[in-house]
Order: sequence, then C-alpha cells, then structure tokens
Amino acid sequence: MQHQPQGWQYAWSHEKESCIGCVVINHSSNNAMTIQHALLITAAALALTACGSKEEAEKAAKNAPTPTELIANQPIVHGPEIKNVEIKNPLEAAWVAGGKAQYDTKCMPCHRLDETKLVGPGWKGVTKRRQPIWIMNMICNTDFMLSQDTEAQKQLELCLVRMPNQNVAVEDARKILEFMRSNDGEK
Ligand code: HEC
Repeated sequence: MQHQPQGWQYAWSHEKESCIGCVVINHSSNNAMTIQHALLITAAALALTACGSKEEAEKAAKNAPTPTELIANQPIVHGPEIKNVEIKNPLEAAWVAGGKAQYDTKCMPCHRLDETKLVGPGWKGVTKRRQPIWIMNMICNTDFMLSQDTEAQKQLELCLVRMPNQNVAVEDARKILEFMRSNDGEK
C-alpha cells in the first residue's frame, strides 16, 4: 500500500513493525490500528530522547502502565491539588508545636526525624530536597502523588511500602511543614 502523506513528515524503515520517529499520517486509508501504533512509537521515541538508550526506552515502554491501569490506580477522591504555600520567617512557633503533635500521632510510626529510613524516608533535609508545595501535596494527596509524581514514585521504589493517606487537613499539613522546617534548622 502506498502512503500519501499530506503535509506531514513520516518515517518508515523497512518493516512496519520497526518504524521509527513520530509517525503522523494524514491520508484516507488510515485506520485506528495505525493511529495506535503511531502513538506507541511516539511514546517510545519520547522515552528514547529522555533516557538515551534504546534498551531503556523499550523497557520503559514495556513496563509502562496501560491507561486502564493508570485509571485503576487513581483514587476515586483526592483532595484538591494544593497550588500555593506561603513560606515565611521567622517560623510560627504555634504551627511548629501543632505540626509536632501531628507527627507524634500520625507520622512517627514510619518517619524518623534524622536521615535514617524507617518505613519511609527520614525527615532530616526533606525541606531542602523538596519544594513546600510538593511536601503539602504528598501529605494531603498521597495516593495521587504516588500514582502521578515521578519523585514520589522513586521513593516508593526505594521503600517498597505505599505511604497511606493519613487524612490530614490542609491546615494541619501546613503545620507539619513548619515542624519539618524547624527540624531542618530554620528559625
Ligand atoms: C505507614 C507508614 C507511613 C506513615 C504513617 C506516614 N508515612 Fe510518609 N512516607 C511513607 C513511605 C513509605 C514514604 C515513601 C513513599 C512511599 O513509599 O510511598 C513516605 C514518604 C513521605 C514523604 C516524602 C519524603 C521524601 O523524602 O521525599 C513525606 C513528606 C511524608 N511521607 C510525609 C508524611 C507525613 C506528614 C505523615 C504523617 C501525617 C506520614 N508521612 C506518615 C510511609 C509513611
């Protein structure tokens, strides 16, 4: 079959199975399979650019969750994404104390205050390696972060335990953040 691209670049190698590059074909005999194929190849090509090696890209493409799996992992309800956190010095002493109280009851079983890992990573330095907004979402939208955010997923790979959603209110999460900042030596 002769392809007749109209204004789009396309690149096929000898066989259809090993076509490379971003294939966008705009012609009448296009069908759903071709589109799906093109999307897969596009994804593989993107992974290729990101990771460098072909093997890595192929592995990533093979291990990538299907859309159905992605949806299955999504919590039915997650809190609204937190988009704004105001940070100021000096620290709010009352928030630090409130955050510590939260920590003692809800976080201590899994997080230590030094660098060492317990079930989850130790909190020392967490405010230096993570943005406040990231920390707030990790606390309040845990499931969402673990299914969507690559940094959170990296931690999951290391810890092999999925941090449970602790049902922490946004105000309380903000206090925990203040406690973390204090733990990291901020005044
Ligand atoms: C049952 C154990 C458990 C409890 C309880 C828990 N966490 Fe976690 N937490 C984890 C694990 C495990 C990870 C690493 C990500 C993963 O594997 O899900 C993590 C990761 C985190 C991170 C990211 C740390 C980093 O270095 O990137 C933050 C922030 C965090 N937790 C905050 C909290 C807060 C705040 C609480 C209490 C309200 C809490 N966690 C309670 C297990 C827990």
